Amino acid sequence: MSFHGHPVEVRPAGAREYLFNDRTVEGYRHSLTAGIDRVAARIARTERPFSGTTPDRLAPEISAIDLEKPLNDPAAALTELEDVYLRDAVYFHHPRYLAHLNCPVVIPALLGEAVLSAVNSSLDTWDQSAGGTLIERRLIDWTAERIGLGPDADGVFTSGGSQSNLQALLLAREEACARAAAGTPTPPTRAEILPKLRILASEAGHFSVQKSAKLLGLGPDAVIPVATDRDRRMRPAVLARELDRCRREGLPVMAVVATAGTTDFGSIDPLPQIADLCVAAGAWMHVDAAYGCGLLASRTRRHLLDGIERADSVTVDYHKSFFQPVSSSALLVRDAAALRHATYHADYLNPARMAEQRIPNQVDKSLQTTRRFDALKLWLTLRVMGADAIGELFDEVVDRAGQAWELLTEDPRFEVVTRSQLSTVVFRYLPQDGPGRELADEANLFAREALAASGAAVVAGTKVDGRHYLKFTLLNPETTLADIAHVLDLLAGHAERYLSEQAAPELCRQAG
Ligand SMILES: Cc1ncc(COP(=O)(O)O)c(C=O)c1O
Repeated sequence: MSFHGHPVEVRPAGAREYLFNDRTVEGYRHSLTAGIDRVAARIARTERPFSGTTPDRLAPEISAIDLEKPLNDPAAALTELEDVYLRDAVYFHHPRYLAHLNCPVVIPALLGEAVLSAVNSSLDTWDQSAGGTLIERRLIDWTAERIGLGPDADGVFTSGGSQSNLQALLLAREEACARAAAGTPTPPTRAEILPKLRILASEAGHFSVQKSAKLLGLGPDAVIPVATDRDRRMRPAVLARELDRCRREGLPVMAVVATAGTTDFGSIDPLPQIADLCVAAGAWMHVDAAYGCGLLASRTRRHLLDGIERADSVTVDYHKSFFQPVSSSALLVRDAAALRHATYHADYLNPARMAEQRIPNQVDKSLQTTRRFDALKLWLTLRVMGADAIGELFDEVVDRAGQAWELLTEDPRFEVVTRSQLSTVVFRYLPQDGPGRELADEANLFAREALAASGAAVVAGTKVDGRHYLKFTLLNPETTLADIAHVLDLLAGHAERYLSEQAAPELCRQAG
């Protein structure tokens, strides 16, 4: 076929039916409704947070799918998806999913997710998003205001806490390099500065700090762990000592990372004292509030974050404690000018004249180029439910963690570590006496795995002072104390079974 002498490609009729446009809205409605119905039906009948499947069982099913043979039928693809994904997914909405920092999500955010992926704005430039850019900016301002960062604050949405921490440390590194080069007749080269830069972070801080240091070209000893107190909060006296030592040894402290909600212990570092020390040492203060940011919405616990307003940069993960679907995170900075360290201009995308014309664009502030409009989920959440409602949900899980901690302190089968300021509970099965005490590590590891394999509940594990512990991360207000008590019984049962098998393996095997 030709048109005005040019050959015209004839495509199979089917392919275009899948393009989302004005002619295919009915297909879109049908497909999405069918997908929503499947998920709704699955959620409605999910009795356990996990099926207990193993990689060995599931991998062959996924490998067996012939990706060269499309089904050409969304309903059939959804049926197939039941077997390769939905049946065995780990369900965070379930009240006995108690493992990692994954929250159940709120429906207004799911609505946002559906809208944002269909419209598919990219938040890099105004000409790819228009209002999306302004909505994201409004939410950044809203968050910065809740933190109290002041009139010059700014920030950007990111893919998660790790990326927010990385970007914060990138900005801090650039500021430190500029400081090191300032006022010297023969400024040191970058190659000379980078190996000397140090980051001080709590020993309970997140590993993304170490990863960031590596990505930022710092030396292997760049991150100095600062000891914590009994409550797993950074000890300001130790921080002061380390700052002093770095000064004496000529090692510029590029950033102090305070954690507002450590992953394991939910501990919040003493932010006001850390801020004082950072001011005195001229160090950049970053607060990793990936977990604790939910307190920004709390009407009763906001004071736990006092001092965060003095940070130079803050990480918040809405996908942890604002009940948002992954991904939804942001980096906030006290001084918008610091974001220039992430700015590059491309003629085809964000030429410098755009800034001169005051055309808003977010790519100048971001490590990413094409970027999801994740902010829309938070926008609809605030517009439908409001921040107080989010704060109430988070307060509930913090309350529940306190109750769980009390339950554990009274239970002779378990030993419990520090009481969390947020919603984690770290504990282990520990027989009062007898040989089981020596096998406590193995018994706890076994109990966690056996519980996950049964699918009845999912809990996390961690190490404290070299010993194996179990961890609840409570983020679901639907989790009751009865759920927690039940899971403790299950864990104790698995641990006891392990110990009795160790004590009398033959007898147990015979008993089956
Ligand atoms: C304190 C803290 N910071 C940062 C992160 C990393 O966040 P993300 O998983 O969103 O990259 C986590 C994740 O658990 C965290 O607990």
